[in-house]
Amino acid sequence: MGTIIKGGRVVTASDSFEADVRIDGEKITAIGKNLEAGNGDETIDANGRWIIPGGIDPHVHLELPFMGTISKDDFDTGTQCALAGGTTTLIDFAIPPKGESMLKIIDDWDAKAKDKARCDYTYHAAVTDWNDQIAEEIPRVVKERGINSFKIFLAYYGVFGLNDDEAFRVVRAVKEAGGIVLVHAVNGNVLTAMATEMIANGQGEPIYHALSQPPEAEGEATGRIIRFTEIENGSVYIVHTTAIDALEEINAGRQRGKATVLGETCTQYFFLNQDLYELPNWEGAKYVLSPPLRPKEHSEALWKALNNHTIETIGTDHCSFDYNGQKNLKGTLPDGTPFDATKDFRFIPNGFNGIEERLMMMYTYGVKDGRISPERWVATCCTNAAKVFGLWPRKGTIAVGSDADIVLWDPDCSGTISAKTHKSAADYNVYEGYEIRGRATTTFVRGKVAYRDGEVLAEPGSGRFLKRGPFSAHSI
Ligand code: URP
Ligand code: ZN
Ligand code: ZN
Repeated sequence: MGTIIKGGRVVTASDSFEADVRIDGEKITAIGKNLEAGNGDETIDANGRWIIPGGIDPHVHLELPFMGTISKDDFDTGTQCALAGGTTTLIDFAIPPKGESMLKIIDDWDAKAKDKARCDYTYHAAVTDWNDQIAEEIPRVVKERGINSFKIFLAYYGVFGLNDDEAFRVVRAVKEAGGIVLVHAVNGNVLTAMATEMIANGQGEPIYHALSQPPEAEGEATGRIIRFTEIENGSVYIVHTTAIDALEEINAGRQRGKATVLGETCTQYFFLNQDLYELPNWEGAKYVLSPPLRPKEHSEALWKALNNHTIETIGTDHCSFDYNGQKNLKGTLPDGTPFDATKDFRFIPNGFNGIEERLMMMYTYGVKDGRISPERWVATCCTNAAKVFGLWPRKGTIAVGSDADIVLWDPDCSGTISAKTHKSAADYNVYEGYEIRGRATTTFVRGKVAYRDGEVLAEPGSGRFLKRGPFSAHSI
């Protein structure tokens, strides 16, 4: 007994064509014209729909303890956002506090996800320290846990950040272990110096969050870590790229060809710009994340970078917080100093929503507005992350033998994004009021209908952890 999706248009990273798709159990078993339904088969009408691979969001933070609070969406609400938006796999980050074991933190993340996740998931492991234990754990994380990607932070000093010595050692260790290094590339020293000076001058409003992390500081750190990776002929993936300066460095690294250099950006950097930080009544705090939103010319450069392959993947950095009660955090530091985020931007929790909106926003303003092709939309939102992170061809495509993670996409609807209707637990949505002209109507995870017409049908705990193979530099 199988399911035949009939009459739709299959869109993959490389092709678009009219075809039926057959599912048996968890897998796609046939693709072709006029597939015959046998006894007991279910037929689903996909007339007027696109049939796309389930989205893969390579950059999310669910239930992350961060900046004195915990990000609002957990593996339950976060995976509901995913299914409603047409995403079937999330890649979170298991981030240990300094001094903590990576293996232990992966166990902790498993405990958070196991009974809640409604779609499939895996993690990148963050390296927030360098010592003998971490050196010993990196190859074990790859072999024993099936995690081949390691994030380092060149900012957030004192919390997650690594200095150059430590960062270089991670690059070397990850190369030896057969993994890829992911980098939060902003010069932490510049940021700390500028932010300290601004606060001393009484400049605590949200706009100074952006001004203390200028595009040049992102470009510098991006170029630096690419050079480190070239020394080892390793592989590096720059996460949440925002700035022309960083795009230039990624391009230069790719031209030199000594290291595998890959670029990710996130939905928000195409649409939301630095001027939002100057909204009255401290509304700008809603948009605080790192790296910050940039002036519009950087967004224009990102659209170009999508088409010239400087950017290969689009994530969200979904790390949602309530505006009331989390963004406006007040408290006391361990040394007894009181802090108030409404007076000092350094304490505004960094991050906001995006999982549910990613495919809709990129489709509406990318595909519908003629900026990218349908195939490039699928490549950057669904396929390339599978290739980079060792999930291909199980995930990320419509092919015989692949998991039946399938989205029926309405390519011609109308609607408006709003916190009133979103699946996120957060009390606001940064895309509030944006019109959308395409959306997921049915989302299948491994052959089962997990979402249909506004309703999430997958149970908590039905999502599976995905073990991944070693990184292959030739996969993309
Ligand atoms: O503002 C952000 N990006 N919050 C999440 C942590 C990170 O750096 O990805
Ligand atoms: Zn980051
Ligand atoms: Zn992030």
